[in-house]
Amino acid sequence: MPSDPSKRTVLLTGAAGEIGHGLVHGLRSHDDIRIIATDLKEIPEQTRSLCDEVHVGDVCDEGLMQQLIAMHEVTDIYHLAALLSTRAEHVPEVAHEVNVGGTWNLLKLAAAHSASHGERVRFILPSTIAIYGLDGQEHKAKVGEVEEGSYNLPKTMYGANKLYCEHLGRYYSRHYRRLAEDRGTALVDFRSLRLPGVIAAETRPTGGTSDFVPEMIHAAATGQSCTCFVRPSARIPWMTMPECVQSLLDIGRVESGRLTQSVYNVASFSASAQEVADVLLRHFPDARIDFEPDVNRQGIVDSWPEGVCTARAAADWGYAPRWNLDEAFEQYIVPAIQSHYAHTSG
Ligand SMILES: NC(=O)c1ccc[n+]([C@@H]2O[C@H](COP(=O)([O-])OP(=O)(O)OC[C@H]3O[C@@H](n4cnc5c(N)ncnc54)[C@H](O)[C@@H]3O)[C@@H](O)[C@H]2O)c1
Repeated sequence: MPSDPSKRTVLLTGAAGEIGHGLVHGLRSHDDIRIIATDLKEIPEQTRSLCDEVHVGDVCDEGLMQQLIAMHEVTDIYHLAALLSTRAEHVPEVAHEVNVGGTWNLLKLAAAHSASHGERVRFILPSTIAIYGLDGQEHKAKVGEVEEGSYNLPKTMYGANKLYCEHLGRYYSRHYRRLAEDRGTALVDFRSLRLPGVIAAETRPTGGTSDFVPEMIHAAATGQSCTCFVRPSARIPWMTMPECVQSLLDIGRVESGRLTQSVYNVASFSASAQEVADVLLRHFPDARIDFEPDVNRQGIVDSWPEGVCTARAAADWGYAPRWNLDEAFEQYIVPAIQSHYAHTSG
């Protein structure tokens, strides 16, 4: 079915996931967009109903992805499907296949589609602070905030996958087939955000190593106790889901001429597990949180920076965090999570 030519058509992979859920709602608020959503899993009804079409399938399936891009004349790809950091350390080879193979598959197809239509397909990839690799707790404290170009030495398969995908995206958007005479002028328009830990009130995370904060919050909101798998002082950068969705929409819409690089850090605040627990206890005084660090997952968190510099994103496309830790709880997390659990059985 051809798209309405006046509209942009977004292919969204990983639509059944946490950010997929938020992003479909964010994209839907723009009525000049058609949404073609896909995931390996069945997409929940509340997300499905906001999409123009949904398809269950594997992002590594070249035939299916090609069919979706060609049939719908896709103009933008939000490629979210991935195995996250904890899951990826259990099955690193599968993670490589999905995280690298799936991204490469879509980049190749986006390149072919751009060339044949003479228009650049926009490709937005959420990357991660896991692409940074610090040498443990003390090094991390000494380094503090990191800029995009520093410490790109990931210690996980997930981080290595995402860093390579950033490089692939840059290659396809700037240097693809530079020696070929029939190269054409329309290359992929690739943009990527290195996301921090994302805190959502409406969905529960699975498979990530930043899950320790969202797990704490969801446990408190549902009257359950929580054992945090990192030590109280473990600190990384964070943002809430509405801020994450807004930043993905913003990077997807900004004119390419304003972008001086392909990959940008974004984050709203840095906080340790204890600092989050303290704020949480002010809002949920009965919350029961204890700390039993898991040495391996703690090691991964110790390799991630405690903060990221977002100056490039601010200068190039006006990125600005919306909330600090206290405001995030007051303005979003507490009201949204209470409303969420009032309307669901949890
Ligand atoms: N949530 C975070 O804190 C965070 C932080 C940094 C980056 N990111 C990135 O954002 C993106 C989305 O993350 P999320 O939190 O929504 O993760 P999620 O695990 O909730 O969602 C990922 C989705 O990808 C799907 N998927 C996995 N393998 C697939 C395959 N082979 N084919 C098709 N679909 C497949 C899963 O079914 C799942 O629905 C990921 O690329 C992740 O790396 C997330």
